[in-house]
Amino acid sequence: MPTALVTGASSGIGAEFARQLAGRGYDLVLVARRTDRLEELAAELPGDPVVISHDLANDAASLAPELERRGIVVDLLVNNAGFGSHGRFAELDPAREAEQVRLNCEAVVVLTGALLPGMVDRDSGGVIVVASTAGMQPLPYQAVYAASKAFALNFTDALATELRGTGVRAMSVNPGPVPTEWQAVAGFEGGEDKIPGKIEVEQVVSESLEAWDKGKRSVIPGAVIRWVMRASAVGPRALQLRVVERQYRP
Ligand SMILES: NC(=O)c1ccc[n+]([C@@H]2O[C@H](COP(=O)([O-])OP(=O)(O)OC[C@H]3O[C@@H](n4cnc5c(N)ncnc54)[C@H](OP(=O)(O)O)[C@@H]3O)[C@@H](O)[C@H]2O)c1
Repeated sequence: MPTALVTGASSGIGAEFARQLAGRGYDLVLVARRTDRLEELAAELPGDPVVISHDLANDAASLAPELERRGIVVDLLVNNAGFGSHGRFAELDPAREAEQVRLNCEAVVVLTGALLPGMVDRDSGGVIVVASTAGMQPLPYQAVYAASKAFALNFTDALATELRGTGVRAMSVNPGPVPTEWQAVAGFEGGEDKIPGKIEVEQVVSESLEAWDKGKRSVIPGAVIRWVMRASAVGPRALQLRVVERQYRP
């Protein structure tokens, strides 16, 4: 059985990735900080999922050695853990903003960097990175979050291209608004209703895995937000900024 490691599996999109990948026959490694939530999910899943409590914002580098110690070989890495914030950058806590960059960007690089060489050696496997439509333009009042997701998206596009012609693949998942714990963590409660094209986690993951099956490099789950992003991509940046400034203004 192939093994999938899902970061941020204690909630939202990550928990749903774990459920649907288990349904596809993967053995699961569930990673996040809240052990109780991971154990609850593990009990619900078939097989014998491995639970690893780990803080990826502050110690991403020690996860791969821990996997090696346990003899776990990862075939599919789902870099999903992430969080955002909301407000004028000058008024936000700079330490929390930097933590966001460590989780949304640095941990993705560290984990992918540790696990990808083994996949390349075996000429099989893959990396899914949960980025966001937020990474497709700058977002006033979510400035660091949007920039961190632009990093995730561009990193994954480049990686997918480097891996072309090999047995290993990379794909970014770019959801629009999805009701999860994300909004409460970011201080953006109800924010999912301000942006068009809200969808549920089940649809995010099923459309993402369908795109994965088709060998896509990147996916925006949900037809409405997909068309909104296509339409806004052709507009000038000044117009994009004016529109999103209104949507995201606190
Ligand atoms: N919801 C949306 O509208 C939306 C849209 C586009 C993209 N996304 C992206 O989708 C991904 C999943 O978000 P979600 O909506 O499912 O949010 P969520 O329900 O808040 O889940 C976030 C997950 O990340 C984990 N996490 C947070 N900090 C961590 C840390 N320091 N170390 C390890 N794990 C950590 C959390 O687990 P613990 O707290 O237990 O550590 C949780 O499992 C994120 O990358 C998010 O940016 C979300």
